[in-house]
Amino acid sequence: MSYQDEYNYSMNEPEAFWKDKAGDLEWFKQPETILSQDEHGIHHWFADGEMNTSYMALDYHVNNGRADQLALIYDSPVTATKKTYTYRQLRDEVALCAGMLKNFGVVKADRVILYMPMIPETVIAMLACARLGAIHSVVFGGFSSRELAIRIDDATPKVVLSASCGIEISTEINYKALLDSAIEMAAHKPQSCIIFQRPQKHVEMVAGRDFDWCDSLKKASPADCVAVKGSDLLYILYTSGTTGKPKGVVRENGGHAVAMKYSMKAIYNTEPGDVYWAASDVGWVVGHSYIVYAPLLQGCTTILYEGKPVMTPDPGAFWRVISEYKVKALFTAPTAFRAIKKEDPDGEYIKKYDLSSLSTIFAAGERLDPPTYEWLTEKLQRPVIDHWWQTETGWAIASNLRGIEPMPVKAGSATVPVPGFNIQILDENGKQLPVNRQGNIAIKLPMPPSCLTNIWGDLARLKSSYFEAYPGYYVSGDGGYIDDDGYLFVMGRVDDVINIAGHRLSTGEMEEVVGKHNAVAECAVVGRNDELKGQLPVGFVVLKSGVEIDDEILINELVQMIRTDIGPVACFKEAYVVKRLPKTRSGKILRKTMRHIMNGEEYAMPSTIDDPASLQDIEQLANKP
Ligand code: COA
Ligand code: AMP
Repeated sequence: MSYQDEYNYSMNEPEAFWKDKAGDLEWFKQPETILSQDEHGIHHWFADGEMNTSYMALDYHVNNGRADQLALIYDSPVTATKKTYTYRQLRDEVALCAGMLKNFGVVKADRVILYMPMIPETVIAMLACARLGAIHSVVFGGFSSRELAIRIDDATPKVVLSASCGIEISTEINYKALLDSAIEMAAHKPQSCIIFQRPQKHVEMVAGRDFDWCDSLKKASPADCVAVKGSDLLYILYTSGTTGKPKGVVRENGGHAVAMKYSMKAIYNTEPGDVYWAASDVGWVVGHSYIVYAPLLQGCTTILYEGKPVMTPDPGAFWRVISEYKVKALFTAPTAFRAIKKEDPDGEYIKKYDLSSLSTIFAAGERLDPPTYEWLTEKLQRPVIDHWWQTETGWAIASNLRGIEPMPVKAGSATVPVPGFNIQILDENGKQLPVNRQGNIAIKLPMPPSCLTNIWGDLARLKSSYFEAYPGYYVSGDGGYIDDDGYLFVMGRVDDVINIAGHRLSTGEMEEVVGKHNAVAECAVVGRNDELKGQLPVGFVVLKSGVEIDDEILINELVQMIRTDIGPVACFKEAYVVKRLPKTRSGKILRKTMRHIMNGEEYAMPSTIDDPASLQDIEQLANKP
C-alpha cells in the first residue's frame, strides 16, 4: 500500500484501520468497541479489550518462538558493564519483580514511582508494574528532590523504587539522598521504598520504610499477568507545561500497545528479530516508547545504554555500540549528534567501526537542524529521518514512513503526517491556513491511539491546555507550516516551553523559582539558541527597590536555586540584572520580543509596548561578546 492509500484509509475509516492494527497483537479478549467517547467528550481506543502490555511484550514472544532471542542488551561504559537478557530471562525477571511488588501490596491501578538510573532493573520494574496492572511513573534522574516531591504528591504512589546512585560520566549522583529529601518535602508518604544497591555505592536504609531490592526479590515468587481493560492506565509521565506544576500525561494500555507495534514497522521499518536502539533515557517519553515498550512489542532486541554520545569514552561511543550489537535503526536527539560532530568534525571515529548493519537514523526531541542533518548524511551515507512528536502523543505525529513508502527527505522537515494524525495549521482564531503559511500546529480530533486521555487528576487542565483553544482540535503548542508537497516544518514552541538538549523544560517554572529570591522584584526567562544544546535559558531580573546586592553573587544564587528546585538538567547558567523588563501597556512581559532580540532575529517593535527604551537593555546584552 502506498503512503497516501494508508493515510487515506486511516482518515476515512479510522475504526476499521485501527481494528486491523489491533489484530497484530495477542489480546486476552479482542476489543469490540474500537473508538468511544466518555461523558467528558474524551476519546478512548479499545476500551473494552482485555489485555496485558507486559504479556504482549514478553510472554507472547516466549510462547511463540522467541524465548531464546535477546530481548535486552545493557551496555554501560560508565560502569564497564555489559549484560544481556533473552526474552525468557527478561520475562522471568519481570515476573519475579512483579511478585516482589505484590508482596509490598501493589495491586492493579496503584501508582509506583521509579526514580532510577539507566540499569536493567528500571526496565524490569516498569514491565513488572505493567504485569500487575499498576501504573508506573518514571521520574528522570536529572530532576531535583523538589520536582520528585511534586510528582510524589500528585501521583500518590504506594511504593517508590530507586537505586543507590546514578552515574553521570564519572560523577556519582546520590539518588537515595535526593529521594529522602523529596519524601521529607512531600505531603504524601509512600508506604515503602525499594532500593537497588549498586556495586558503586552502598546507601543507608530508613528502617521500616526502605527495603533492599535484592533481599526483597529473594522473598518473592513470580506473579502472573493481570488482565486490564484497553482503557486502563499503563503509566503517568510528567512533562513541563507553562506553569510550575508539571502535567501528568496519562497513557492507556490498549491504544499505546497498538500504536507502538504499528510504528515499529510503519515508521522504523523493523521486523521481529532486528536490533533497535533508542539512545535516550527511560525518564523521557522516547525512553518509555522506544527503549522499553515498542521494540519488545515488536519482538526486537532493544539496547539500554548507560552513557553519553561523547566522553564515555570518546565520540565513537555510538558507532561502537552500533557495530558491536549490529543495530539496524538508531534513534536519538539531534543534540547528541551535535556533541559528536563538535568533537569529531571529520567523522574519524565513524571510520573505525563496521556500521554495515545500520540502515536508518532517526532524530526527534527537537528540530533536526539542517547543518547537523547534512553532516550526518554525508558522514554516514544513510537516510537520516527527522520526526516530530511529544510526550502527549507517545509516538510520532509526523514522519517519513520508512516501512510503508520511504519518501525523499527535505532538510528541516519532519516530512508528512503519520497515519491517524490529521494535522492542520491554524491561525489565532482557529481558521485553517493555506500552504506555506506559518501558524499553530493542531491535530483534528479524534487523535489516533496512544495519545493522552487526561492529565492525572486534572481534567480541567487537560481541556484548558489542549482542547479549548480550538474546539474540535488538539493544540500541540508548536508552530510551523505545511509546504506545497504536504511536508510539515515544525519551527518551535509557541508557548513558554523550551528544549534543552532534547529535554523539555518550562521557562515559566524557572521564573517562579527565580522570583522567589528575596532581592528579585520580577523576572523573565527566555530561550536562547545554542549550538550544542539547541536552546539554553537566559534570565533577566529586576531588583526590588532599595536592595543592594552584587550582580555576580545574586546570579550564582539564582543558578543554585534552579539546580536545587528544578535540577541540573535545566542548564540555567546565564542571567542579567536589568533596570526594567519590556512590557506592554497592560503590563504583559514581551517575552517573544526578548527571545527574538537574544537570538539576533528580526523583530517588529510591538505597537503595545509601554517603554520602547526598555528593549535597548536587552539589545545591549544580546550583543555582548
Ligand atoms: N541524572 C542526574 N543528572 C543528570 C542526568 C541524570 N540522568 N542527566 C543529566 N544530568 C545532569 C548532568 O550531569 C549535568 O549536570 P552538571 O550541570 O552538574 O554538569 C546537567 O544535568 C545537564 O546535563 P546534559 O544536558 O545532559 O548536559 P551534558 O553537558 O552532561 O551533556 C549532551 C550534553 C549533548 C552529551 C547530552 O545532553 C546528551 O547526551 N543528550 C542526548 C539527549 C537525549 O538523550 N535526549 C532525550 C530525548 S530523545
Ligand atoms: P517532549 O514532550 O519532551 O517529547 O517534547 C516535545 C516537544 O519537543 C515538541 O512539542 C517540540 O517542541 C519538540 N520536538 C520534538 N521533536 C521535534 C522535531 N522533530 N522537530 C521539532 N521539534 C520537535
